[in-house]
Amino acid sequence: MRHLRVPSAQTQHWLELCRSHGWLQTGVGVLSLEGGLKGIPLSHSAPPETDKRWADNAIISAEGITRGPEHWSEHLSPEILQEIKDEIPNSYEIQGDILIVKLEQEVSRYGTEIANAMLNQLPSVRLVCADNGVIGEFRVRDLQPLSSRNDNFSTITQIRENGVLISTDPAKVYFSARLSKEREDNLAVAKELRNKLSRPLRICDPYAGVGPSLASLLREKELVSECFAGDLNPDAFELLETNISRFISKLDTPLSTLEVKNIDAREWAKEVQAESKIDYLLVNLPHHSLEHLPSLLPLLSKNHPTVIRGWAIIDRDSLTNQKDAIESMIELAGGVVESINCSEVKGFSSSKIFMRFESWQIFH
Ligand SMILES: C[S@@+](CC[C@H](N)C(=O)[O-])C[C@H]1O[C@@H](n2cnc3c(N)ncnc32)[C@H](O)[C@@H]1O
Repeated sequence: MRHLRVPSAQTQHWLELCRSHGWLQTGVGVLSLEGGLKGIPLSHSAPPETDKRWADNAIISAEGITRGPEHWSEHLSPEILQEIKDEIPNSYEIQGDILIVKLEQEVSRYGTEIANAMLNQLPSVRLVCADNGVIGEFRVRDLQPLSSRNDNFSTITQIRENGVLISTDPAKVYFSARLSKEREDNLAVAKELRNKLSRPLRICDPYAGVGPSLASLLREKELVSECFAGDLNPDAFELLETNISRFISKLDTPLSTLEVKNIDAREWAKEVQAESKIDYLLVNLPHHSLEHLPSLLPLLSKNHPTVIRGWAIIDRDSLTNQKDAIESMIELAGGVVESINCSEVKGFSSSKIFMRFESWQIFH
């Protein structure tokens, strides 16, 4: 392969010049040559050594160092790459061994080629799916499988979070890897409450999805004595049951109560006699958390501190009012608020705020 031999200090200049003219051979690295010189790999379209634009630099023949493509798009044919170059998807999400990518309408007809290019570049991915948006009452993504590494088109996969395996199915249930920090904080707050109460906790996660919050809470020694968890989406419920059995399989002290239900969160207090039982409540239905909160408050136990941690999507300019609104709901239900904190969880849409609220209260 032809290489342009240049002084080391000028490597950047010549690399840029070659790249901008399409003379740089992609997928091949720069050679280190004797005497502090570098060899820049040249493509077929680079001019011969006699071209004045090379100044006094020689062109040598040397074996190229193949780096392999650095970006999945380098696996596309030059024709497709040329056609879709302005609409190449520049981000994607990976859940377990499934890659989920949004494709603009103009490039969707090359979905299979794009998926194959991604599979070529990313060895840990098994299945590539197009994300066609959120559908249905459970806000699940409409996924269209595009290509699979081994003819396994199943959308069930396993995610490892904080050392725990969680089974999920991105085509049927909600799961957000972006909330893993919130889940770490759930654990820290639960430990604080356990220390305050000097005993393991009775917890309730009525919008548990596939159970990522429970993954860390249930595995912590002597943190939880009773667990009430559920989800209204039957597919999430099924995976939740499997995941919870895995989370608790290594506990030294078994839970004294475990109720996993496929019910509407607002039914918990009557359905399972969980009324006035719960020390630690998670409220994660961001589009409706605040609306549902009054029906969940009867779950909280009495005469000692309890904690609610919840997440809600609100208008940006309403953040300051939320604390008062939540406090009023708790007081109306007979609670005395010790502290409430409402703050924005960064990294979500800009017109709305994704808010976390945490309140400590005592019901009498
Ligand atoms: C934002 S997700 C949270 C899931 C999980 N806690 C997590 O962090 O991944 C909300 C979950 O609530 C479930 N859901 C929706 N409406 C519900 C309701 N009325 N009662 C119980 N669960 C509900 C959805 O199926 C979904 O799994």
